Amino acid sequence: MSTTKVVLIFVILTGAIFFALASDPEPLQDLCVALPNSGVRVNGFACKAESNVTESDFFFSGIGKPGVINNTVGSLVTTANVDKIPGLNTLGVSLARIDYKPGGINPPHTHPRATEVVFVLEGELDVAFITTSNKLISKKIKKGEVFVFPIGLVHYQKNNGDTLASVIAAFNSQLPGALPVASALFSSKPAVPDEVLAKTFQIDAKEVETIKTKFAPKTG
Ligand SMILES: *[C@@H]1O[C@H](CO)[C@@H](O)[C@H](O)[C@H]1NC(C)=O
Ligand SMILES: *[C@@H]1O[C@H](CO)[C@@H](O)[C@H](O)[C@H]1NC(C)=O
Repeated sequence: MSTTKVVLIFVILTGAIFFALASDPEPLQDLCVALPNSGVRVNGFACKAESNVTESDFFFSGIGKPGVINNTVGSLVTTANVDKIPGLNTLGVSLARIDYKPGGINPPHTHPRATEVVFVLEGELDVAFITTSNKLISKKIKKGEVFVFPIGLVHYQKNNGDTLASVIAAFNSQLPGALPVASALFSSKPAVPDEVLAKTFQIDAKEVETIKTKFAPKTG
């Protein structure tokens, strides 16, 4: 093989690795406040005219207090991402607040576009993620402590304490996305065929149907 070919293959491979590991791209300007209703489709949102940009585009007061938890899993995620803070567009970061009732869980899910770092505001949590070699990395964390969930890996948190627990979560994406494993499989629209789930979980179609009924919209 010629040296040129080897160099070319190296460049292509490292490029592919870079893209596979990349999170949000770097901005190409000071700011690009999201204009979601512009109708222009780009990677992120089109930018508002700078003459129309104000401080409120960079401000949000919605994660200062616990939210009302009213669902079967006993936890509530309040996002502070580009959907709430248009000034985050192209900046590659966002936050969320998660509150957990005693016994509440934030069920197993992944963030396809971000690593997550949580800081415990109140209470204590049992947290874990699972690697692609199927190893569970788990820990009990309490007020003032920090834990990391690497990009793309399935993870969860559970409040085993007897008081409310809360965290602030930081992400290296303006919109990390969340894919809850159970509801993705059992409540997608259109539905994943029963026989696929039956074979996957080695159960019969009737059991699949029973699980699907639990994911009716009421769970929130
Ligand atoms: C600024 O916002 C106003 C009100 O939405 C809009 O009419 C105007 O076109 C905007 N200016 C620019 C330069 O886009
Ligand atoms: C909680 O959910 C129940 C059942 O859906 C509803 O009746 C109730 O009003 C909700 N409470 C709050 C505080 O949203």
